[in-house]
Formats: sequence, structure tokens, C-alpha cells
Amino acid sequence: MGKPKAESFAESFIVAVDGPAASGKGTIATRLGEALDLPVLDTGLLYRAVGVLTAEAGGHMDDEGAAAAAAVMLTAEQLDDPKLRTRAAGELASRVAVHPRVRAALLDFQHTFARQEGGAILDGRDIGTIICPEAPVKLYVTARPEVRAERRWKQLTAQGEAVSYEDVLTDIRRRDARDGGRDAAPMKPAPDAVLLDTSEMTIEQAADAARRIVEAARARWEASQEAS
Ligand code: DC
Repeated sequence: MGKPKAESFAESFIVAVDGPAASGKGTIATRLGEALDLPVLDTGLLYRAVGVLTAEAGGHMDDEGAAAAAAVMLTAEQLDDPKLRTRAAGELASRVAVHPRVRAALLDFQHTFARQEGGAILDGRDIGTIICPEAPVKLYVTARPEVRAERRWKQLTAQGEAVSYEDVLTDIRRRDARDGGRDAAPMKPAPDAVLLDTSEMTIEQAADAARRIVEAARARWEASQEAS
């Protein structure tokens, strides 16, 4: 988070990229960051780190106090740990993410990142609805569960995890139900989000479509900044 803070969210071009697990939102956010020269925060890593730290401290995922204690202690350096990318960490993350106190503890970190001068890209589940509802552009990236399971299965296999496609599909369906059904900041498109279904797209096509949407929004946003 090197650059100075913008005075308010209105001065920062924030790109919100939300959507379910393995929809392609992470790759899209990374490609957007390269194309627009903006920093990217994968907010799923915050919840993954809280889940892993809670487990390592001997806490239970249903124990809101234990998970919130881990969230309060979280530092940016802990987000680089490769074990956060595992299937197990994804499941722990989804379980601790239901707790309002965990979500509240992670709010400042996300707001500070979003307010960087020049702007920022954040990907997650609730960026457009809760974290940055004022973001000038919001994408909701989705794909059919079977397509997402296939993508995630290939990714996990390439990382060396021995797991079947069927088990990954079961994980994805369970996480969709939990992330979308919880009371605290449920996963859903913001009313003003642009929906991008990547089921029939290659990652290049999806990233290109996202870039066009965001570049058009940035041109409108820059014009409105100059006018005000
Ligand atoms: O994007 P991901 O698969 O790394 O996210 C892991 C879990 O973290 C996801 O199942 C739900 C939770 N999460 C969340 O509740 N809100 C976010 N903004 C990002 C992730």
C-alpha cells in the first residue's frame, strides 16, 4: 500500500469485482490491474488467512470470538503464504466469513487499500454491495458451477493437490450456498453491477470483456471528475 491515501472514496477510481468461487474473478482482477496499472487486493485471502490462523491457534470455525481475534491480528505479510491457496483454506475461509465480527475486523484494511491515490481493484463477494458501494464500476463475474468446478480442479491438480472433480463440484456448491445464504454481507450482485457470465468464454475473452467495461467506466469517471 505504497501510495498516499486519497482524501475520500470519491477521488479514487475503485473497481469492484465480485462473484462466486472459481468464476474467473481473480484472474480478471489481476489482468485489469496490469492493463490499468492499478493495485489489486484479493479479499478472499483475508478470510483464508483468518480461517488458517484460527485453526492453527486451535480455535473452531464456529467460534466467532476466536475467528475475530485472528482477524484483528492479521497483517499484510501473512497474505503471501502459499497454503492460503489450498482447498482446505477455501473451506475454512467460507466458514469464518459468516461471522459479522470477522467481517467488521477486516473492513479498515479493505477501505485503506481501496482509497489509494489513483484507485484500486478489489475482488471478493461483497465489494460492490458493502465494502465499496460507491465504486464507479462493479463487475459481477459468474459461471455455471460445473465450469467453475472444472477450472478449480485443474488449478488444484496443478498445485499438486490430489482431489476428484466431483469433490471440487461438491465444495463449490456448498460454498455458493453458504456464501450466498449467510446473513452478514451475503454474496450477491450490487444493483448497478455489470454481470459477466464467463461459462462460454476463455480467460482471454473474459479479461478482454472486463477491460472494455472498466476502460469505458474510467473514461466516464475521469470526465465527471474534471467537470466537478
Ligand atoms: O475468493 P475466495 O475463494 O478466495 O474466498 C474464500 C472465501 O472467503 C469465500 O468462500 C467466502 C469468503 N469471502 C467473503 O466472504 N467475502 C469476500 N469479500 C471474499 C471472500
